[in-house]
Amino acid sequence: MAESLELSVDLGRGLRLRSPVMVASGTFGYGFDAPQVDRSALGAIVTKGTTLRPRDGNAPNRIAETASGMLNAIGLQNPGVEHVARVFAPQWATWDVPVIVNVAGDSVDEYIAVARRLDGVPGIAGLELNISCPNVSDGLQFGVDPGLAAELTGAVRVVTRLPLWVKLTPNVTDIVAIARAVENAGADALSAINTYVGMAIDVRRRRPVLSRGTGGLSGPAIKPLALHAVWEVAAEAGIPVIGIGGITTAADALEFLLAGAAAVQLGTVNYTWARAARDVHDGVAAYLQEHGLRGVGDLPIRSATVLTHA
Ligand SMILES: Cc1cc2nc3c(=O)[nH]c(=O)nc-3n(C[C@H](O)[C@H](O)[C@H](O)COP(=O)(O)O)c2cc1C
Repeated sequence: MAESLELSVDLGRGLRLRSPVMVASGTFGYGFDAPQVDRSALGAIVTKGTTLRPRDGNAPNRIAETASGMLNAIGLQNPGVEHVARVFAPQWATWDVPVIVNVAGDSVDEYIAVARRLDGVPGIAGLELNISCPNVSDGLQFGVDPGLAAELTGAVRVVTRLPLWVKLTPNVTDIVAIARAVENAGADALSAINTYVGMAIDVRRRRPVLSRGTGGLSGPAIKPLALHAVWEVAAEAGIPVIGIGGITTAADALEFLLAGAAAVQLGTVNYTWARAARDVHDGVAAYLQEHGLRGVGDLPIRSATVLTHA
């Protein structure tokens, strides 16, 4: 590999990742369950969504296979922020890869409490807010309303010095409006996207396959949709965009980087291919070299091409 090749990416607030390839929240636990994964290929690990108190999650069935993807309704099963800060973070502090904690909650106050507990804890490199959670006060998801999404982002921003990423839900009419709102409220980066709401019905039993009825669709099935969302958000954003959704190969990751993402996260593929992050990392490096590009930052095609809807 050429020595001048620049695989590292700057995600703001002093956080530079050595690789643009991360593993996505909920598909890599807290980083302890897959010792066979080569961490040296990872830019960062994003943890399972973490709440103030431990949660058991939903009853089975919590996952279902679909054509080129999967549905999940895990229900934020996690050990709670205290366990994360006391037991997991000291171990992460000894690792050579940054760990970003994905934060979830039922209310603005819960997000604030989790963020506050994690601020300044060695081993925690940043926070990613999962705003696809319903707010108990009105049942509305934070991420579907620009005002609510901005209020949440701003409230967390003031209680942490950590890099703050906000993870956008694609289940909205105008994702760019939400992106703008959270950027203005102080987000350092935008993670795009979370899962699409979907469902499957068991025709033999005549009821939904998932215990909750609906779930989040992920995997290759959503890649073109996610790519389009990233394309739209990246055109407007003044902060880095992290592309997520159905990435399986280096070619998939390159599509997101060409669309304007500064980095990518791999989710569902981790269940079927433990070497995915290494392969994607190496494939992106080989592409840069083949095309005479110096780094990931040279990839976005926006300035060279103007595309609109057909
Ligand atoms: C089983 C499962 C659990 C997930 N849990 C979370 C979570 O706790 N918080 C979150 O923000 N996203 C969660 N996600 C969403 C992923 O991080 C990712 O945004 C989504 O799956 C799309 O990427 P993919 O198609 O590569 O999987 C989860 C996804 C799956 C499949």
